[in-house]
Amino acid sequence: MYGSARFAILLLLLLLCLCNPVLSDKKHVSIKNRLRFGRNMTLHCQSKDDDLGEQNVADGDEFGWDFSVNVVGTTLFYCDLGWESIEQYPFVAYSFQRDFVRCNTGCAWLISVEGIYGLNGQTGLWEFIYHWPN
Ligand SMILES: *[C@@H]1O[C@H](CO)[C@@H](O)[C@H](O)[C@H]1NC(C)=O
Repeated sequence: MYGSARFAILLLLLLLCLCNPVLSDKKHVSIKNRLRFGRNMTLHCQSKDDDLGEQNVADGDEFGWDFSVNVVGTTLFYCDLGWESIEQYPFVAYSFQRDFVRCNTGCAWLISVEGIYGLNGQTGLWEFIYHWPN
């Protein structure tokens, strides 16, 4: 009686682990200021459930956070970014659908004067992803 209940729980845990290897992973997003010449940036990131607050990130510093993706695969964090004349540039910092392969352990971003680079975790290369609006 006792033994079979324990066995059932073990079986359940095993199934959860086997079916859900990607979804149970912890992820990390980091966004680094590479604007140079002492330029600050402001960053406000949020998901449907979490507001990470308005951040002031100095040149050379980064802002990052940890999270777990939800089981239905709809996890999405977006940020509003500002520096000099760019007041509020919205971009998606993590989207499960876009990024579960591209950034397997999390997404890394570099904010530069040209635009925003994202690290492709599959190739190890920085890709130019977002242009600033003209
Ligand atoms: C950047 O931010 C810091 C404090 O958050 C401030 O002291 C500094 O003056 C800012 N630099 C510029 C260039 O605005």
